[in-house]
Amino acid sequence: MKLLPFASLLALAAASPAERRQSSDAFTLNIRWSNSPLSGPLNANGGSFWTGKPTSSYCPDNIPQCKTVNATSFVVQDDRVLLNAVVPGGQQVYVSPQGQLTYTPPHSAYIPTGSLTSLASWSAASGASFLNPFLTFWLCNTDAAHPDAWSVWLEYTNGTTGAITNNGSNGSNACTRIALEAKPYQGDAAWEFA
Ligand SMILES: *[C@@H]1O[C@H](CO)[C@@H](O)[C@H](O)[C@H]1NC(C)=O
Ligand SMILES: *[C@@H]1O[C@H](CO)[C@@H](O)[C@H](O)[C@H]1NC(C)=O
Ligand SMILES: *[C@@H]1O[C@H](CO)[C@@H](O)[C@H](O)[C@H]1NC(C)=O
Ligand SMILES: *[C@@H]1O[C@H](CO)[C@@H](O)[C@H](O)[C@H]1NC(C)=O
Repeated sequence: MKLLPFASLLALAAASPAERRQSSDAFTLNIRWSNSPLSGPLNANGGSFWTGKPTSSYCPDNIPQCKTVNATSFVVQDDRVLLNAVVPGGQQVYVSPQGQLTYTPPHSAYIPTGSLTSLASWSAASGASFLNPFLTFWLCNTDAAHPDAWSVWLEYTNGTTGAITNNGSNGSNACTRIALEAKPYQGDAAWEFA
């Protein structure tokens, strides 16, 4: 039997009374409630989201007046979170079957089976807006070559054993719980994130 570790989360997220954001409202996602000195916005880099690595955006040579954008921003469409990218087809944010917060590369809509794509629900506390309070977000320093770089992982429940796993943790690296707060972004959209 093939297990879909996020099936129960999917049902929960879909059942939640999502507070909808306008698709025109771009925002950054910022580290909050970390029991660590980590703070600031998440940066898209190499298919996942980081603090301690810069935003990796790209302007193809054949796009006239393409603006270099070094901030990672997002928009919402229905229950989906997308990168604020101009590239045709867009770039979607999802949670991989391994539990890592991930985005589709330019010119590809491929998302593996077992991924969680229904991410956009919000909890508003004291005027702040937190991404999907039904999910448990972690930052883990998963890149041995960059000890100060941390990427975003989510816990999932093993459908067979009920064990709660954070696959960003390998038993000897560090992980810290976070929440992600949306803050309005007024800058330019990137052409694409690489
Ligand atoms: C982003 O780009 C602006 C304008 O080129 C520059 O002033 C700023 O230092 C850059 N920020 C980062 C984090 O690279
Ligand atoms: C969790 O990580 C380990 C080691 O990288 C990997 O072997 C395993 O397949 C991962 N589990 C899932 C559910 O992706
Ligand atoms: C766990 O991850 C850290 C950071 O990437 C790495 O330095 C360490 O060697 C890894 N340990 C194991 C047991 O895989
Ligand atoms: C769930 O746990 C079982 C038993 O430890 C393991 O064999 C299986 O790979 C796990 N499944 C996932 C999706 O992590």
